[in-house]
Amino acid sequence: DRLRQVQKYLKPFHLSRKKLREISTRLWTDMIRGLGKRTHNKAAVKMLPTFVRATPDGTEKGDFLALDLGGTNFRVLHVRVVEEEQRVLKVSQHAIPKKIMLGTGEQLFNHIATRLGDFVDSQNLKGQTLPLGFTFSFPCEQKEIDKSILIRWTKGFNCSGVEGKDVVKLLKEAIQRKEDYDIGSVAMVNDTVGTMMSCGYRDQSCEIGMIIGTGTNACYMEEMKNVKRVEGEDGRMCINTEWGGFGDDGSLRNILTKFDVQVDKMSINPGVHTFEKMISGMYLGEIVRLLLVKLTEDKLLFNGQMSEALRTKDKFQTKFISEIEEEDNGLENGEKILTELGLKWDPVDVRVVRLVCDTISSRSARLCGAALATIANRIRTYRRLDHLKTTVGVDGTVYRKHPNFSEELQVTVRLLAPECSITFLVSEDGSGKGAAMVAAVAERLSRGQ
Ligand code: BG6
Ligand code: GLC
Repeated sequence: DRLRQVQKYLKPFHLSRKKLREISTRLWTDMIRGLGKRTHNKAAVKMLPTFVRATPDGTEKGDFLALDLGGTNFRVLHVRVVEEEQRVLKVSQHAIPKKIMLGTGEQLFNHIATRLGDFVDSQNLKGQTLPLGFTFSFPCEQKEIDKSILIRWTKGFNCSGVEGKDVVKLLKEAIQRKEDYDIGSVAMVNDTVGTMMSCGYRDQSCEIGMIIGTGTNACYMEEMKNVKRVEGEDGRMCINTEWGGFGDDGSLRNILTKFDVQVDKMSINPGVHTFEKMISGMYLGEIVRLLLVKLTEDKLLFNGQMSEALRTKDKFQTKFISEIEEEDNGLENGEKILTELGLKWDPVDVRVVRLVCDTISSRSARLCGAALATIANRIRTYRRLDHLKTTVGVDGTVYRKHPNFSEELQVTVRLLAPECSITFLVSEDGSGKGAAMVAAVAERLSRGQ
């Protein structure tokens, strides 16, 4: 009976097939607007040209450095490309301190340059000037492969003095300030692009990259003639959709719940990245927490007894959702988590919490599925194919760690893009490897080969 009452609160989170279809159609329209020469300025879905046109042709070789900033971890990599294979020789992984995430741009880039310097030192690479692939997972207006203006910060970052600036230049300046080591040419990519490229080496038909982690986003190969903002008609270019911004013009108003509105208000960037805030790891835990607070206030949980932790922002972590939904140990995990949050629970409470988690993660997976179906349908349509067979390179903690997220996502894609068969390839060494690959391709092209 309690579970039935709770269902009423959860109803707004259940999206019917009809709703999902509407969402997909709306995204389709927004993608076209984002690609348009005159319409892109006002588009919520930015559809950013990436200047990645060529995929590896197998002749690339050499040693490369890569930086990967914007996911859970900041990574520095040493990658060797030999005979159609990319080998990660060494990777170092760090968390970026919160103070730096919210400090000045100069502090951020100094921090990165220091980490890179330590790495170059430990790998005995000083004195060499290796090309560098820079994965920077934020929306950028890319001018060239090595010129990229940050449009705005997303996720937890908000460093002053970087928006509107060329991040490649800021990185190079920070390295010069150190006067300790040097780097060669830089190729900058979004993490979706890096992910697509790192899978592309294993599977030539990989032409979509998708991230469902701290944030969410996807990129795909578009026909140049449809990319109205860049000169040239031939071939294809990878487009970073920045689908996280879908809904920022109010187009998703009819599916937003009051809990989504609250999450947005309490975030450091209200009004921005509406779609992402319903989907990605940075926000899922918060949506669940706010629901649990409401259910407790209405005496449907924990006998109406709140705890300090439950009242505190971000205390209910997104990884708890995966743990509680685990098939075998989920309820046990739930008991432990609720106890640690200072809550007094009975067995029904634990089941209610699990139901809430399931509802929120399902909505996320289905929304992603609808968005991915839109991209697949787009590729199939512009190629005038009856059937599209393609591969998506995927990464991100939510996709990797949640017990049935990928299954639910795939069911939705099949429903909304029945004429497309999609293979999902989880990226193995993160997008840094793909960024090194982009740097390798750029090197080859600059040598005129
Ligand atoms: C990593 C990629 O593996 O996944 C990053 O190398 C990407 O570039 C990240 O941003 C996304 O996942 P999360 O969950 O760490 O944000
Ligand atoms: C955010 C960023 C986007 C990135 C995504 C996944 O949405 O704006 O650039 O790809 O997170 O990390």
